[in-house]
Amino acid sequence: MPSVSHLYSGRRLLPPCDGPKLGPFKLNNQPITFEKLLSDNYPTKPSSFGGTSSSLGAGCSYVFQANIGDSKYAIKIFKFYHLDKSGDVEKALKKDLTNESTIIYNSDPFYAECRAYGKIRQYQEHQGRELRSRKWKRRRNARTTPLAVPCYGYLFLQFDDYSDLFRDDFGVSAWDRTEEDDIAQIPLRGLVKQLMNDEEPLRNPRQMLRDLDTLLEIDVWQRDVFVRNYLEGLLIDFDIAWTKPHWMFLLLSQEQLNEERQEHYVDYDNMFLEVYGRDHIAKVRATVNVGYRAKLRGWSWPGRLLSLA
Ligand SMILES: Nc1ncnc2c1ncn2[C@@H]1O[C@H](COP(=O)(O)OP(=O)(O)OP(=O)(O)O)[C@@H](O)[C@H]1O
Ligand SMILES: [Mg+2]
Repeated sequence: MPSVSHLYSGRRLLPPCDGPKLGPFKLNNQPITFEKLLSDNYPTKPSSFGGTSSSLGAGCSYVFQANIGDSKYAIKIFKFYHLDKSGDVEKALKKDLTNESTIIYNSDPFYAECRAYGKIRQYQEHQGRELRSRKWKRRRNARTTPLAVPCYGYLFLQFDDYSDLFRDDFGVSAWDRTEEDDIAQIPLRGLVKQLMNDEEPLRNPRQMLRDLDTLLEIDVWQRDVFVRNYLEGLLIDFDIAWTKPHWMFLLLSQEQLNEERQEHYVDYDNMFLEVYGRDHIAKVRATVNVGYRAKLRGWSWPGRLLSLA
């Protein structure tokens, strides 16, 4: 990988760039036992910079159910990431808007998720303080439920040991590792999350929509609103998220950013349309019905407006 500081001790907040960060999971010398592979690894999502993944196993991670001590978790282990200096990356570097290491710390899926969860944690801590406030108004408005599937921190796994284990026990061997990575001895990087039930991905649509609003308000643009990224009505996946400050906010025009933001709501509606059909959409809808809105002159719904142009 190019000139970024990879940290092997697993004690620091990551990533080491501007913006929110995530701390390590406290293992306290407890053993980790990987029990089963939860993710199917079909290439279903757009890559970070446009285009879609094309080969089997092209996802950026594997998610396992694991025991740490006496508790069960989901651990998402990320593949190695290599900066593709084409398209938006090339443009941003040429315009001198940012540098390579910032791009990597913002866009490597592991770091992207660390940053999103770092921001979500800040928000939850703030809500916790509101709940403990003496002022009833602040207490009343504070949020008591999680905004996304809880993440308890990152961990590093020694590559040689664990790649053998994952290959032998789960048939997983594609880590996108290159010679360059070998030399640098970069570990496998994982995030420890609450283990969720996979029987009901979508739940409480109104709350899901409010969560999407809140995430955008706190500048976590998840950018991947699809059924496969929800469990028990909460988002599980932030690996292509843009969390401010992020180099893409410097590169894109306001109009492009508006479209990107709006896309969350379009995808939300499409997701429910696919799963529950038209009846549901009539009840909880994220995007404004354009024809109807056009009749209501002067009426606006900040954040979720579809462009009439
Ligand atoms: N916390 C969790 N509890 C239970 N299962 C989980 C959890 N997190 C992820 N999974 C399972 O793993 C799958 C992939 O998770 P995730 O979306 O985070 O990884 P990904 O590499 O981005 O995958 P994809 O490319 O399919 O979006 C989920 O669809 C879900 O089935
Ligand atoms: Mg996903």
